[in-house]
Amino acid sequence: EDQLKGRDMLTLLDYTNEEITYLLHKALVMKKETLSGKMPPILPGKTLGMIFEKHSTRTRISFEVGMVQLGGHAMYMNARDLQIGRGESIHDTGKVLSEFLDGVMIRANSHESVEELAKHASIPIINGLTDLFHPCQALADLLTMIEVKGSIVGKRIAYVGDGNNVAHSLVIGAANMGMHIAVATPAGYEFNQKLFAMVQKIAAANGGSVIQTYDPVEAVENADVVYTDVWTSMGQEEESAHRLEVFKDFQINDKLVGHAKKDYMFLHCLPAHREEEVSASVIDGPNSYVFQQAGNRLHAQKAVLATLLK
Ligand code: CP
Ligand code: NVA
Repeated sequence: EDQLKGRDMLTLLDYTNEEITYLLHKALVMKKETLSGKMPPILPGKTLGMIFEKHSTRTRISFEVGMVQLGGHAMYMNARDLQIGRGESIHDTGKVLSEFLDGVMIRANSHESVEELAKHASIPIINGLTDLFHPCQALADLLTMIEVKGSIVGKRIAYVGDGNNVAHSLVIGAANMGMHIAVATPAGYEFNQKLFAMVQKIAAANGGSVIQTYDPVEAVENADVVYTDVWTSMGQEEESAHRLEVFKDFQINDKLVGHAKKDYMFLHCLPAHREEEVSASVIDGPNSYVFQQAGNRLHAQKAVLATLLK
């Protein structure tokens, strides 16, 4: 716990499997305490700043509710309204925010700008989604798999769709847990290849594996967990028609999940587009855990906040 205090969470690449396991365990304990009304307020008087350059439902609400439940405060800031929106430097913004706040959660277009903010801020910076990573999502994903499957070491997970921010963080997390991971994307929409080499090492060190394929059936074969995300991420709206065409064979539907284990679980970070990346029959079906998964954003992030900010 002490080695995590004051740290940033920009990507799970900066966290060891012991640290990730610690946070997941803490999240499970805190979830139980919260649901039984026995959670002590462990961050009284602490304020989390939340900066958004993009839309959000889950991230904004779960961080704000999380801080309230921990006895602290959260402050929503639209990046447009800050002076940073009129050209104040990230350097100065980081220094100034550190004078007022105990931590910052930021959702930004560019991962580099978040790294720059973390470099100049003396308080923990938590990534609430960038073009490259979505670490808080991955923690909630792992938490949900553990709740449903018990141990996830050696379990098979298939990610089918766009090799995006959500895919990157999911695979880093799953590799740390020693899962067997298959990523299926269309050509040209692969997982970041530098990152792929890194996660292969992480998976191997933990007894797991990662493969990439262009064949969704190959990825889903015998899977315990089937995961997808939108085909068009925020900021890519202009490519949306083209992407619909490119991704059309990558939909998670009854035919595709017929290749997964009978008791497979379907996960999606949400927001979802029914009949695009996933059929209504799957996302609204008995193997879907997407709302439990969304709810776990709160519990996973409370563990992060309680550990990094304390
Ligand atoms: N999954 C997720 O981060 O959702 P929001 O965009 O609603 O925050
Ligand atoms: N990949 C999506 C995730 C949204 C939570 C996006 O970046 O828009």
